Amino acid sequence: MKRGCFLTLEGGEGVGKTTNLAFIDDFLRRRGIEVVVTREPGGVPVAEKLRELILDETGLLPEAELLLIFAGRVHHVRDKILPALERGQWVVSDRFVDASYAYQGGGRGLSWRRIEYLEDWLVAGCRPDLTFLFDAPVEIGLGRARARGDINRFEEETVAFLERVRQAYLERWRREPGRICRIDASRPLAEVQEAIAARLSRLVETWRK
Ligand SMILES: Nc1ncnc2c1ncn2[C@@H]1O[C@H](COP(=O)(O)OP(=O)(O)OP(=O)(O)O)[C@@H](O)[C@H]1O
Ligand SMILES: [Mg+2]
Repeated sequence: MKRGCFLTLEGGEGVGKTTNLAFIDDFLRRRGIEVVVTREPGGVPVAEKLRELILDETGLLPEAELLLIFAGRVHHVRDKILPALERGQWVVSDRFVDASYAYQGGGRGLSWRRIEYLEDWLVAGCRPDLTFLFDAPVEIGLGRARARGDINRFEEETVAFLERVRQAYLERWRREPGRICRIDASRPLAEVQEAIAARLSRLVETWRK
């Protein structure tokens, strides 16, 4: 059985990750691919419990936040992502490790070296095959999230925090332009989805060979 592909969707608040997760799920299913959609923080019961804690708790130290996210992630990877990939299914996750570099690294100021250490230790063997980075000016994403109406703790962060998150994501993209596909998320949804479809078609073709 051929291993499935692991896709992740990244970007700041309200840029369209969840909207396009549904589009990607549908795109792949129409091509006969079995898909498992998931999200971080969360994805498996213990990690969903940690998600509630992380999103609700206002006094968390950055170090504690990072460790709680990785605690959930190690379960997510071993209990759900790797088994699905081994069954030949594709896994699409709404956020993954790049989000730690962007939020706990860029946003909260923890050094990438420490995050790299946790990544190498806990989730090696689970690197995404392809990551879509939805990139747009902070104000555009915040405006969309506000219009949608449910604002969480991260969305309430200051614009300066979210700007650091954006810059950290862009640095990830500059370092790994082969894996990370940057999408200009400020464009109309139809154009965003055209760009996604073009990149995904190539991946599906390569995978089938
Ligand atoms: N390219 C686009 N143009 C206009 N509106 C968009 C576009 N992409 C998404 N939206 C709308 O913006 C809102 C936020 O999108 P979505 O919830 O998918 O973002 P998200 O990245 O998942 O946000 P969060 O970080 O809060 O989870 C939704 O109402 C969605 O319909
Ligand atoms: Mg979302």
